[in-house]
Amino acid sequence: MAVTIKTPEEISKMRVAGRLASEVLDYIAPFVCAGVTTGEIDRLCHDYMVGVQQCVPAPLNYAPRGHAPYPKSICTSINHQVCHGVPGDKKLKNGDILNIDITTIKDGYHGDTSRMFTIGETSIQARRLCENTFLAMWRGIRAVRPGAHLGDIGHAIQSMVEAQGYSVVREFCGHGIGKQFHEEPQVLHYGKPGSGLKLEAGMVFTIEPMINAGKAAIKQLGDGWTIVTSDHSLSAQWEHTVAVTATGYEVLTLSAGSPPPPPF
Ligand code: MF3
Ligand code: CO
Ligand code: CO
Repeated sequence: MAVTIKTPEEISKMRVAGRLASEVLDYIAPFVCAGVTTGEIDRLCHDYMVGVQQCVPAPLNYAPRGHAPYPKSICTSINHQVCHGVPGDKKLKNGDILNIDITTIKDGYHGDTSRMFTIGETSIQARRLCENTFLAMWRGIRAVRPGAHLGDIGHAIQSMVEAQGYSVVREFCGHGIGKQFHEEPQVLHYGKPGSGLKLEAGMVFTIEPMINAGKAAIKQLGDGWTIVTSDHSLSAQWEHTVAVTATGYEVLTLSAGSPPPPPF
């Protein structure tokens, strides 16, 4: 399927789905602390999405090619887990870093966003990784405008994080999003300026860099979903869903609790 251009009506619906996804993160933030299990966080988010927001948690039973259906409603990736961590009985503990990734479906359209959370007192290195990954996501977002290329986004992210000694995960990337969870194009978080697809107003995609404190290599766990760093180094990720506008970009996954964009 080719890259679709969304109409203003479709983007209005995606703004709603995106805000709801971000509001799930606002809702869950006070519960994210030592002693809570990721399974409990999943249950709270599920009930909030279904019961309060009346939207569908897109991950639940999501089954892309080659995968068993995803068993939970959100993804929770702790410490050296890169992405797609499956919520379970493990309790969060002091010093952990946690990514919570929420994807809603409302009125037929998807909104996809994730944030990092720190549990209690985290190491300076862990906090720096989370902060720099947030900045890297925003560098990618700020490269979005009509006439720019996907490679400009990847380059903005890669050049910043590699200068800090981190590495960019290659096997997973941002993605077009709309009626489908994962649409074309693939939005790589590395690349060369001026390369790749030329952006046009009405395109909607995610930017969701996964940044490792150590080497870029990853592997999948036996559960068929959870991705971890091969060297067990810490990994962080932030995600927004972004629309290309006539003059630049609009972030669709914002809410009252979104961390403010960094100053230029
Ligand atoms: N939300 C993830 C993304 O940003 C995808 C999760 S797929 C799942 O693309 F099945 F693991 F939930
Ligand atoms: Co995504
Ligand atoms: Co996501």
